[in-house]
Amino acid sequence: MGRLSGRKAIVTGAASGIGQASAVLFAREGARVLAVDRPGVAFDFGDIAGEGRIVPLALDVTDDAAPAAAADAAVEQFGGLDILFNNAGIGDSVLAAQMTDEAWDRVQSVNLRAVFRFARAAIPLLTASSAGRIINTASVMAEGTDFGLSAYCASKAGVLGLTRTLALELGRHGITANAILPGAILTGMTRDSFARSEVAEVWARKSVLRRLGEPMDVARVALFLASDDASFVTGQALAADGGLTLRI
Ligand SMILES: NC(=O)c1ccc[n+]([C@@H]2O[C@H](COP(=O)([O-])OP(=O)(O)OC[C@H]3O[C@@H](n4cnc5c(N)ncnc54)[C@H](O)[C@@H]3O)[C@@H](O)[C@H]2O)c1
Repeated sequence: MGRLSGRKAIVTGAASGIGQASAVLFAREGARVLAVDRPGVAFDFGDIAGEGRIVPLALDVTDDAAPAAAADAAVEQFGGLDILFNNAGIGDSVLAAQMTDEAWDRVQSVNLRAVFRFARAAIPLLTASSAGRIINTASVMAEGTDFGLSAYCASKAGVLGLTRTLALELGRHGITANAILPGAILTGMTRDSFARSEVAEVWARKSVLRRLGEPMDVARVALFLASDDASFVTGQALAADGGLTLRI
C-alpha cells in the first residue's frame, strides 16, 4: 500500500521540475493527482501516466477563475481533495532600480497571490478531508537573498508568512500547512543558468553535499509532508537544499 493510498491531490506547476516529479511520486504512492500547469505546455508523466491516476489540467494559476476551476475539477474527477501542493512559480532577476511595476506584479501574482487564492478555494474541501494538507513551495530565498531577486525574495518570504497563518487558522480543521524551501535544484527554471558549468559548479559547491538538487529530492520532501508521517507537523518551513544555508 502506498503512502498516499486513496488520497486526492492537486499539484500546480506539474508539467516540469519539482511539480512534475511530485505528481509522479504522489501517483506512485497511490494518490490521484490533478496536475495543473499553464495552457500550451506539454505534460509528460512517463509510465505512470498509463495508470490513469494523473489527470492533467491546463490552467494559468493567476486567472481569476483558476482556483475554483481546480477545486471543481478535483470534486468532479476524484470526489474531493486531501492535498494541495501549491508549487507553480516563476523566477526573475532584475535589479530593484530597474524593476517595472509589471515585472513586480507578475512575480507576486504567480508566486504569492495564486498560492493564497488556491489555498482559500481548497479550504472547504480540505476541511471535509480527514487528512487535509497544504504544501507551498517557497525557496531558500524566502530567508536569503541575491542581486536582482527583490520581487522573487519578497514573494517567497510572503509564502512563508502565509503558510504559518494558514497553519494557525486551519489547525482546528485538522489541516496542516507547511512550506518547502528548495535550494539550487536542476529544473526548467534553472536549466539555462546551470547549463553554464561555472555557474553549476559554484552552486554545487555551496551545498555541503557538493551537488545540485534533483526535482525528486524535493518531491520526496513534499511526499513526507503530504503523508501520515507528517500528521503532527504544521506551520514549518523545511529546507531541501543539501545544506546550502548552513554557512553564513
Ligand atoms: N529550481 C530551483 O532551484 C528552485 C529553488 C527554490 C524554489 N524553487 C521553486 O520551486 C517551484 C517549482 O519550480 P521548478 O524549479 O520546478 O521550475 P520549473 O520551471 O521546472 O517548473 C515550474 C512550473 O510552473 C509552471 N507555471 C509557471 N507559471 C504558471 C502559471 N501562471 N500557471 C500555471 N503554471 C505555471 C511552469 O509552466 C512550470 O511547469 C517554484 O515555486 C520555484 O520558485 C525552485
